[in-house]
Amino acid sequence: MKKARIIGTGSYAPDSILTNQDLEKRIDTTNEWIISRTGIKQRRIAAPEQCTSDLASEAARRALDMAGVKAEELDFIVMGTITGDYPWPATACLVQKKIGATNAFAYDLSAACSGFVFALDAAAKQIATGSAQKVLVIGAEILSRIIDWEDRNTCVLFGDGAGAVVLEATEGDHGVLSTHLHSDGNYWELLYQAGFGSKHSASAAGIDERLPFLKMQGNDVFKVAVRMLTEVAHEALDHNGMTSSDVNLFIPHQANRRILEAVAKRLKFSDDQVYINVDFFGNTSGASIPLALDEANRAGRIQSGDILLFDAFGGGFTWGSALVRW
Ligand code: ACO
Repeated sequence: MKKARIIGTGSYAPDSILTNQDLEKRIDTTNEWIISRTGIKQRRIAAPEQCTSDLASEAARRALDMAGVKAEELDFIVMGTITGDYPWPATACLVQKKIGATNAFAYDLSAACSGFVFALDAAAKQIATGSAQKVLVIGAEILSRIIDWEDRNTCVLFGDGAGAVVLEATEGDHGVLSTHLHSDGNYWELLYQAGFGSKHSASAAGIDERLPFLKMQGNDVFKVAVRMLTEVAHEALDHNGMTSSDVNLFIPHQANRRILEAVAKRLKFSDDQVYINVDFFGNTSGASIPLALDEANRAGRIQSGDILLFDAFGGGFTWGSALVRW
């Protein structure tokens, strides 16, 4: 079976920066509280005219450019997002149009903060079965549009951004070595967005103005996230006969620093094995892993042959890991 090798990475974050000091002026919070509870110092916010497909297309162009692949060469585009431009069509189709990937089939996948890892799994399997040769995997979000900016429990946590990777079928031993995915719908109410689905009529969003906003039970999410992120990372290592010392770079979903440090400690990773950039972007949900990956890659942190471990957890609940040989 062919492996899916990452041959290009790209990311895009909007220019506008919202700092903790900016938030102090809007809601009852402090820079100290936000940093001590989350590690987040600032987040990027999309301009009013930008849609998720714009962020995603820019990240995609950068990944294609690094890979030296033309958009028309892509067979498949899969995008993890919970903040697409519209409920439908799939935002992946809008990206396909914007970048000119005329020969690709495209769809979105809804796995919240696990979206990129779930999408990477779908892409790797299309490649393994021979259905696709070159695939674009995207994670992109404009969470600022579904945040209740009066709710201090949630609005300090999230940001906007996009990341993408280009995968190519290869016979060699580089590429995605394994993926492990899980879901448990029993937890759905701990983290969700009520508006714009079939549960409520479209007009209800006008009647209940808080319906479109993200809702979260932060404490409960925290505990389950730490447990599941740890378990599914172990699953990846055990499956490949590896231990944490075999991993060159651990790139977890950038939820918040406390979650990431708790997971890294349980997995016995040293600080230099863990990539964290949540301080500067906040939690960008499905975009966070490819955004961090691209930053690490462009900073020269990844060498050919390195073992990378991606680890994600999000609404649903969904969680998953992917082990990659670079
Ligand atoms: N500024 C100041 N005070 C605040 C703020 C704020 N921004 N937000 C909440 N508080 C207050 C609360 O109202 C509460 O006050 P009270 O005791 O008077 O009621 C107090 O701080 C403590 O609240 P807790 O919820 O206990 O705070 P906690 O230490 O648990 O931190 C947090 C909250 C940061 C949300 C934490 O639970 C967390 O990180 N949860 C995980 C959430 C997450 O990452 N979700 C992302 C999606 S899932 C994922 O990506 C993995």
